[in-house]
Amino acid sequence: MIRNKLLAAVTASVAALGLAACGGSGDGGSGGGGGGDDTITMGFAQVGAESGWRTANTESIQSSAEAAGIDLQFSDAQGEQENQISAIRSFIQQRVDIIAFSPVVETGWDAVLLEAKRANIPVILTDRSVETEQEDLFVTFLGSDFIEEGRKAGEWAVENWASTGAQWNIAELQGTTGAAPAIDRQEGFAEAIAGSPNLTVVASQSGDFTRTGGREVMEAMLNSNPEINAVYAHNDDMGLGAIEAIEAAGKVPGQDIQIITVDAVRDGMQALADGKINFIVECNPLLGDQLMDLAQQVLDGEEVPERVVTEETTFTQEQAAEVLPDRKY
Ligand code: AHR
Repeated sequence: MIRNKLLAAVTASVAALGLAACGGSGDGGSGGGGGGDDTITMGFAQVGAESGWRTANTESIQSSAEAAGIDLQFSDAQGEQENQISAIRSFIQQRVDIIAFSPVVETGWDAVLLEAKRANIPVILTDRSVETEQEDLFVTFLGSDFIEEGRKAGEWAVENWASTGAQWNIAELQGTTGAAPAIDRQEGFAEAIAGSPNLTVVASQSGDFTRTGGREVMEAMLNSNPEINAVYAHNDDMGLGAIEAIEAAGKVPGQDIQIITVDAVRDGMQALADGKINFIVECNPLLGDQLMDLAQQVLDGEEVPERVVTEETTFTQEQAAEVLPDRKY
């Protein structure tokens, strides 16, 4: 750990003063530099292990930390905000050098982020952002543009569904209620299809970003809305669960019921190449290297951008078949 634990309070104040003097990253301060041991300690509070995307994201963070020589204190919140808040409080008590986390939901973080700020421990958001009352509670946010992802899904629906002139009754499988990707992917999609009267979202419910959730919600939706002929799932796992429900109902996924998902993890890409999914919008989970670089820069007192947007693409069935052999996750 950079700061000698016994001298933590003193060193933190000195680091804060140093930063104030040199005009460094400022917000939340940098813990870098003090003590005899130069190893950076990062506390990382992960959402859980709800999806293939999350597993790939965790592996990326763990392997990048190891490669960068960063001591990673990793906590899995199992999908509960209160677990994540407890983990962050514990990182503050341990006086880690920097905290990073991917918030389960968007709101309710002001108090704990203020505690980190007062302890002079900088916070980096990864993957998902937060809505806070107070500004400057985190240094930077590294992750996807979820509204844009929803928009790309909607634009494909307009080009490939609306253009047929037929009526498309869409089942929307939302991510975790209150989570940024669920809110934003719904918004972007709704915005893109707004001008197409033959695209109608007839049912919209959370499947919590899990395969089981997707299957159960899809089963219920097919029972109450047998006219459904399209699915927009906020992630691959829920789309894969929906495929199970569609097949169990005696219908052919990708044909009787066309499917758009988000993520592009290997299982999703395989289903796309197999013709069971029709289109996938990529959400890149490999954030580890960029996160470790940002952490190092923040602790070195360098300026970092407030927002780092992940570059992403989209996949048709043909494109999925092409890239699958080299897909890393
Ligand atoms: O925040 C990213 C989202 O969270 C992914 O799209 C989803 O699979 C995950 O659970």
